[in-house]
Amino acid sequence: MTFPSEPDAVGRDLPRRDGAVKVLGTAGYAGDAPLADAAYLHAVQATIARGRVTALDTTAAEALDGVVAVLTPATAERLASTEDRELAVLQDEEVAFRGQVVALVVADSSEVARHAAALVRVGYARQAHDVELRADRDDLYAPEKVNPDFPADTSEGDVDAALAAAAVTVDETYTTAMYHNNPMEPHATAALWDPAGDGFLTLWDSTQGVHSTRAVLAPLFGLDEARVRVVCPYVGGGFGSKGQPHVNVVLAAMAARAVPGRPVRIALTRQQMFALAGYRTPTVQRCRLGADRDGRLTALAVDVVEQTSRIKEFAEQTGVPARMMYASANRRTTHRLAALDVPVPSWMRAPGECPGMFGPEVAMDELAERLGLDPVELRIRNEPAVEPGSGKPFSSRDLVGCLREGAARFDWSRRDPRPGMRRRGDWLVGTGVAASTYPVSRMTKSTATIRREGGRYVAEIGAADLGTGTWTTLAQIAADALGVPVDRVEVRIGDTDHPVASVAGGSSGMTTWGSAVVEAARAFRAKHGAEPPDGAEASGDVGPADDRYAMHAFGAQFAEARVHIDTGEVRVARLLGVFAAGRIINPRTARSQFVGGMTMGLSMALHEQSVLDPRTGHVVNHDFADYHIAANADVDGIEAHWLPEHDPHVNAMGSKGIGEIGIVGTAAAVSNAVWHACGVRVRNLPITLDKVLPALEQRPGP
Ligand code: MOS
Repeated sequence: MTFPSEPDAVGRDLPRRDGAVKVLGTAGYAGDAPLADAAYLHAVQATIARGRVTALDTTAAEALDGVVAVLTPATAERLASTEDRELAVLQDEEVAFRGQVVALVVADSSEVARHAAALVRVGYARQAHDVELRADRDDLYAPEKVNPDFPADTSEGDVDAALAAAAVTVDETYTTAMYHNNPMEPHATAALWDPAGDGFLTLWDSTQGVHSTRAVLAPLFGLDEARVRVVCPYVGGGFGSKGQPHVNVVLAAMAARAVPGRPVRIALTRQQMFALAGYRTPTVQRCRLGADRDGRLTALAVDVVEQTSRIKEFAEQTGVPARMMYASANRRTTHRLAALDVPVPSWMRAPGECPGMFGPEVAMDELAERLGLDPVELRIRNEPAVEPGSGKPFSSRDLVGCLREGAARFDWSRRDPRPGMRRRGDWLVGTGVAASTYPVSRMTKSTATIRREGGRYVAEIGAADLGTGTWTTLAQIAADALGVPVDRVEVRIGDTDHPVASVAGGSSGMTTWGSAVVEAARAFRAKHGAEPPDGAEASGDVGPADDRYAMHAFGAQFAEARVHIDTGEVRVARLLGVFAAGRIINPRTARSQFVGGMTMGLSMALHEQSVLDPRTGHVVNHDFADYHIAANADVDGIEAHWLPEHDPHVNAMGSKGIGEIGIVGTAAAVSNAVWHACGVRVRNLPITLDKVLPALEQRPGP
């Protein structure tokens, strides 16, 4: 961008503007909405996975002191639209998955609501359920498209012929587990209907997008969007699970209308989140690679099997990254879904790329092993000149730079390529590498307004800060675009009263909202000059993406894994990532994004796994005692670095999204390091000790 004066805010290591209120505990989250005399909600959940509710006895619940109302399918209001069957809560007696909401208690306190919910007696007519994902099911189907709008299948050249002719091949099947989003702040909503009666609904909701929540909610209640306000200045993490409203929002709006004049609050319990807030589908990925003796790929096929729910389709785009990552004349990707009696899968940090870079990046390591070629070099040899498939030039692509810089920082050149060679005390030590990638996404609808107010500049947009840094980074962008010091810029986000903003999803926030802010600043300067009067104002919209280019961020992750010689315990001693992600707007918040993503990737590699009992359809480890997420003690050292990358095509800032790329490839790097440590290929996540122990037992004694 061109600057009217010395710009110095973008790129600076500025502290988070929201840091102090968060540390002080005064930041107003959805559960803190200032509402007097609020009633509290607690959901009653189905204990069967498929069937019908035949009887609901609410007598004992209603008799409890402090209970205000009990809503059931018989008494709850009819929604104006039931098209989205995940959100059509309490509209009929069908049970489509275990944990589905079958009744709702409204009470004077959360404790009474929860107690009363336990007193509701539910009778069921059970039907046989089916919750088991297997690649050999005979009812798998090809979706019309995969998330958000990619073709389910792609094919170029002749993969089978190329595999048959290849000097070296890999044909293995890899699996990733079911994972549940667990932001620190649970899904929480407060709702208040305007008692004046003509229907104005205010929602305080923990969401990744106030405007997108409103756009989904308003039609459910037959309301014009102008009659709904959504407020959300702070979010305690979302990771995709707050990217679209879940039933808590609908229940809050419904209950608030059932108790006129009284606000209501709901916060899902941690256990309820495992049925009601989305999750990442498990995946089965058959990966086939063919290469010539020099390691140049001649064939690449990824065939994915994953699940969706019977009531609403969600098709994770797991095969998509294999379409653009490496050069290969022959390529095929497919997606097949099993529609099961399970909750609706949804977005979780880097949908598609995160699971979809596990199988292929381990397969690349296996190919390197079979070729006797260094895995860094193998990837460099398969760099495409243009984006495979589309044939478009990359706006910038520096995977090679990331691999080289990471290799140098990690002392990769001293690595003995043979597995099982290094031992330190009782630990076998190995290192591994994998690549990361994430697309640069731009949403179409976002507007920012800049206004002069009391000598300051106020930038307003209904954007979200999930803990990502938006409060701080939008101010930096606005300051440079206006040519004023950053401390004279105030940012206002998280409210539908501000100009419309897209959801914080697909790492698109800075590209989309930042572009709108730059446009607003340009309009402001053009209109009001260097001495704008108080009240001066201008707006700008995000423009279209430059579709002549393929735009992606890249990275390389290096892992050191240790496997205990007797117990098989696996630890990640070190993780190092190098990213080429355009211009870094704020190194402090960016480092948090990269390190946070890599930590979540480590967690996926070693710990996380939702265990769905096929007999009941219940995620049995639905709490933090049994669903382990990497904690401080699991992380010995994580470093994130980035290359200076100048990309004039992505947006006015030259930045690429960084919220998700950190989790992409991490689990593959760890699996590759575990193989190098002990010689065992773990193709099924998570990498738990039972998967490496048999090989350790066969090792010769000391
Ligand atoms: Mo992210 S899973 O695109 O909210």
